[in-house]
This record gives sequence, structure tokens and C-alpha cells, in this order.
Amino acid sequence: MGTIKIQNLSFKYDAMSHYIFEKVNLNIDEFWKLGFIGRNGRGKTTFLKLLQNAYDYEGTIESNLYFDYFPKRIQDKKQLVKDLVLTYSTLDDASFWKFEIEMPQLNLSDEILNRKFSTLSPGEQTKVLLALMFVEEGTFKLIDEPTNHLDIIGRDIVANYLEKKSGFIIVSHDKTIINQTVNHILSIDRSKIQLLKGDYDTWENKFKQDNLFEERKNFKLNKQIKSLHQTAERLNGWSNRAENEKSAEFYKGQHHVDIDKGFLGHKAAKLMKRSKNALKRVESSIEEKQGLLRNIDKNPKLTLNYEPFYHDNILTVNQLVLERCNRALIQNPISFNIKQGQQLVISGSNGTGKSSLLQAIRGAVINS
Ligand SMILES: Nc1ncnc2c1ncn2[C@@H]1O[C@H](COP(=O)(O)OP(=O)(O)O)[C@@H](O)[C@H]1O
Ligand SMILES: [Mg+2]
Repeated sequence: MGTIKIQNLSFKYDAMSHYIFEKVNLNIDEFWKLGFIGRNGRGKTTFLKLLQNAYDYEGTIESNLYFDYFPKRIQDKKQLVKDLVLTYSTLDDASFWKFEIEMPQLNLSDEILNRKFSTLSPGEQTKVLLALMFVEEGTFKLIDEPTNHLDIIGRDIVANYLEKKSGFIIVSHDKTIINQTVNHILSIDRSKIQLLKGDYDTWENKFKQDNLFEERKNFKLNKQIKSLHQTAERLNGWSNRAENEKSAEFYKGQHHVDIDKGFLGHKAAKLMKRSKNALKRVESSIEEKQGLLRNIDKNPKLTLNYEPFYHDNILTVNQLVLERCNRALIQNPISFNIKQGQQLVISGSNGTGKSSLLQAIRGAVINS
């Protein structure tokens, strides 16, 4: 059985001061459907590249699998799709039917085979590259963010497609697609990389529970740290007072003989020493507890430097008709109003004119 066995993997890019991965140990099975999740910049793409030996690393990655990566870099996008499939797969004319079997599963019509790859919509290009990957038997697929260019319908089609496949790692922020297609989750955050059996919901429940546990622990630790700080302050005060008393006795002793001088000086010195030692203990206890405080990986609150704008009405679109190549993009003219503080979602399938609408608005704003 094929496996990926990772031992003590550590990696950082040359210019980095910290490791992206540090002593990671993982075993991945060739039949797994593994969802890889984590916020941007955590190292998901880097990990997929390391599996393909793209960079030098510390530790070992042992595997008897052949890796295939999505999205494949296509050199000549002017190629016809059919030629591209023949170029980038092991298929030939006799086995080309294998690609044709995949096409309807991704809602790709035969007609695209004779079109230049560059003329396909981004969603169609995604589907062609996925089909190209899955015609290959005996490879382990590394699928990096496949839903970026897909609309809701496209995402659904790809999710249904991947649900029937196995032997892959999929990186995605799309909770629905991960839930539908995987049976294991690899999650990466600031401090750890974690593998668990289940889907996104399984991971999320565990994540929430872990965070709650950490939050309670942090709350307790913070309370203890606060009280230790107060103790430290008190001890500091005592120690300073003892020091003052001691030197006062000393200076007093310069001028006249005082039978209690030695005794008082000795007592103050002892008190000072005791409070200094206690202070040291408290300080090291604070340090230890601060080390135990966990960095909880939450989404930071988005804050904007927001200047209230004095106009209430920000944008008015009245009876807008969008055309591309003499073809009306949207059947009925569009009218809407956006007021201060409102947010508008533009939704629709690929190719219905969402970007054209934004371009038209942008043009109107620039020209106004
Ligand atoms: N070729 C590179 N050289 C230097 N730093 C890189 C390179 N590629 C990615 N990084 C950095 O490594 C970190 C992880 O990046 P990446 O693997 O792309 O994260 P993710 O895929 O999880 O968004 C980021 O801080 C990114 O800026
Ligand atoms: Mg990435």
C-alpha cells in the first residue's frame, strides 16, 4: 500500500527568521481523501511543494507515490484543449476516451475539445485541469484551491466529482466542498499541524472545544499572573523598605554608639534577603505561567480606519444595460442604490456579467 511518511520535517524559506514547519511527523495513506485547511500564508502550498521535492528541507519525506499537482502550469494556452490533454497526460488517441468519460461528470461539453484553452472561462479551465489530473491512474493528487474561479454551481459540480474520487489532498477554504469530499483533515495554524479523521465539521467542533479549554486555562493563568504581580510589588516594597532601614541604621551608627544597631541592621538585612528571594521565586513563577499562556488562533477582528463620509447616497445605478460584443449580458436593465454603510452582494453564475458590472461602475466613477 502506498503511503507518505513524514518524519521530523522542518522547513523555512531562506529569508525567513522562523520555521513554517518544525519537526512535523505525519503518515498519509494513498487512499485518503485529505482536506488541508488553515489561514492564508500558513504554508499549505509550501507543504504540497515539499511533497514534490521542490525545496530542500530537514527531516525525511518517504513515499512510493507519484504526485500530480493542480493547477498544472500550462505553457501554451493557445493550444486546443484536445492537444493540451494529449500533451499533459499519458493518454493517446486510442485511450482518449478516458478523458471523454470524465468530461460530462464535470459538465464539460464535447465542443470545448476543439477550442483554444485560453478561450475557456476560468471555471471551464479549472474543470479541464481537474479531469486531466484524474485520467491519470496511480498518482496521488495534490489539489491546491480548486474553487477559486468557480461559481456556486461550478463548486457543486466539482464537489460531486471529487466526492467519488480518492487519493488526494485538497487545499480549500470552502467548508462545503471539504465536508462533502474528505475523510481526513490536516489543519495548520501558527503553532501546530494536526491530523484527524473526519470532515470539516469534525475539525471545527474539536477546534471550538480546544479553544474553549485554552481560553479557560488562559483566564485562570492570567488571574494567577495578576495576583503574582501584586505579590511581587509588595515584596519589592518590603525589600526596598528593609534596605532603607538598614542604611538608616548604618548611617545613624556613624555618629553615636547604639547598642541595637547591629541587631536592627542584621534583622533588616535578613528581611531584605528573604523578600528578595521570595521576589525571585515569584518572578520565575510569573515567567513560567506566561510561558503556558496559549496563543489562540482566532480570526483577528477586521478594523478599518473609517472616515464617515458626509454623503448618504454613495452610488446610484439607473436602468443600466450591459453589452459585450453586441450581446446584452443581463436581460433587464439594472437599477439600484447604495447608501452609506450598506453592503451589496452581486451573485450569479460565471459569465453572467458580474465583473462587467463592476467595470462599468468603476468606469463611471473614474469618468465622473
Ligand atoms: N518562494 C517563496 N519564497 C519565500 N517565501 C515564500 C515563498 N512562497 C511562500 N512564501 C511564504 O511562506 C509562507 C507560506 O506560504 P504558502 O505556503 O503560500 O501559504 P498558504 O498556501 O497556506 O497560503 C508565507 O509567509 C509566504 O509569504
Ligand atoms: Mg496556497
